[in-house]
Amino acid sequence: MSSTGGQFRRVTTKTFMLMKQKGIKISALTAYDFMTAKLLDSAGIDLLLVGDSLGNVFQGNETTLPVTMDEMIYHTKAVSKGVSRAMVVVDMPFMSYQLSVDEAFRNAGRIMKETPAGGVKLEGGERVAETIKKITDAGIPVMGHIGLMPQSIHQYGSYRERGKNEDEANEILNDAKVLEQAGAFSIVLEKIPLELAKKVTASVSIPTIGIGAGVECDGQILVISDMLGLNKEFHPRFVRYYAHLADEIDSAVKKYIHDVRERSFPSEDESY
Ligand code: KIV
Repeated sequence: MSSTGGQFRRVTTKTFMLMKQKGIKISALTAYDFMTAKLLDSAGIDLLLVGDSLGNVFQGNETTLPVTMDEMIYHTKAVSKGVSRAMVVVDMPFMSYQLSVDEAFRNAGRIMKETPAGGVKLEGGERVAETIKKITDAGIPVMGHIGLMPQSIHQYGSYRERGKNEDEANEILNDAKVLEQAGAFSIVLEKIPLELAKKVTASVSIPTIGIGAGVECDGQILVISDMLGLNKEFHPRFVRYYAHLADEIDSAVKKYIHDVRERSFPSEDESY
């Protein structure tokens, strides 16, 4: 049974508004491939983000900056084939929306024309408000993303939490209100203090989805490889391991190597 009550009904932006109004928490995860998306969708996840975090966890880059529009579209096509219920949202990669409002509009439109995604996400507050307005005016749902914005890593110099001092906190609160006015259907709050996330969540009528932003957000999102424990070297405090797949995979592959060497695989039953 899904968190919205209807097992097969497609999740839309309206579902999220309703969930916020009813106090039903929204569950979201990232996905980058067909097989994983199919599993997450059938487990009942509400939203799948084809995150530009694929630059880190799929491509092995240090940052999300090298990810291209073509790559986002490629992964979104694969993810979408595995999804029948969840809403699929696609990250607009670095430099696909910063050059001009028109360029952003063209790229958001490209994602919607070339994939079956339900919306796009882009990082920034007031500075992207005009862009979000233009995109949403064309009927394309936009998810905002404020707090820690990984595409600005070279400006920050580190991945530390944001909004700890008053100026930063006020800016984040203002950005959230501006995003709502611009037409965003929800906002990701990344790595900000719980109390600030609570204040932001109470100040806007659209749902907030937290990552490292505490329990008061309207929903939560995690990067799939983090929550499945695929990377043992990455364990910030906001990541809870729901599985230990790195260990599972290690022991499965070791067993396979052993069986191949010992000639116990394949057996007669596994042969033709
Ligand atoms: O790219 C991504 O995975 C994200 C989430 C961390 C929200 O933006």
